Amino acid sequence: MTGPLDAAELFDAVGRDYEEAFGHQPIADVAVRLLLDRLPESARVLDIGSGTGRPVAAALTGAGHRVLGVDVSDRMVAIAREQVPDADFVRADIREWDSAAGSWDAVCAFFSFLQMTRDEVLRLLDRGARWLKPGGLLAVATVPMDVEGVDTDFLGHPIRVTSFAAPDLLRHVEQAGFEVVETREAVFAPHADRPAEQQFLVLATPTPRTPPTP
Ligand SMILES: C[S@@+](CC[C@H](N)C(=O)[O-])C[C@H]1O[C@@H](n2cnc3c(N)ncnc32)[C@H](O)[C@@H]1O
Repeated sequence: MTGPLDAAELFDAVGRDYEEAFGHQPIADVAVRLLLDRLPESARVLDIGSGTGRPVAAALTGAGHRVLGVDVSDRMVAIAREQVPDADFVRADIREWDSAAGSWDAVCAFFSFLQMTRDEVLRLLDRGARWLKPGGLLAVATVPMDVEGVDTDFLGHPIRVTSFAAPDLLRHVEQAGFEVVETREAVFAPHADRPAEQQFLVLATPTPRTPPTP
């Protein structure tokens, strides 16, 4: 029997089928609108797990922002480069990738934490807080569930999923040094034959650091 696929194996196998099933998620449109309302001109945006580049990198790049997508799947990076030539995409595992502190206006992670352990997600939230400029924005969209290491099926492939219930995710975002700016919820049915899933979006900004007293 085949064990659960890791993210690179899964998304290399799924390829364009992902966009067909999940390319029109209402929460992604909401997130893009909220970001477009708040980002400065020509903002630097890091998109963690950028997938096919649509809709997030495409919409933000189309509005004049500079997007770097980091994705662990060769196939997703190839599709994104072809579909969104004005954005940059690198193939890397975000858990091993690093960036200069204070260098991004926004850090996005849309449905890209689901195959990471809780500790890995918490570490990424901490690193995201460091990567952002003061006043920058973190945007995380996920399927809010209190599950850890649960084996399931995704588009016909076995995977192992971990997530947080929405209140726990908010608590961890705050503990990582963020102030929550907005939250949104939506329900999405990828296929008529798949159950609808809850989706949750959190937008947050790094808490201003108190300057050391002289
Ligand atoms: C569910 S898809 C979401 C794609 C896109 N963000 C969207 O909302 O349409 C998750 C993406 O995250 C990527 N991913 C998962 N784990 C990753 C990791 N550790 N480092 C980089 N990318 C990762 C996958 O390869 C996949 O493209």
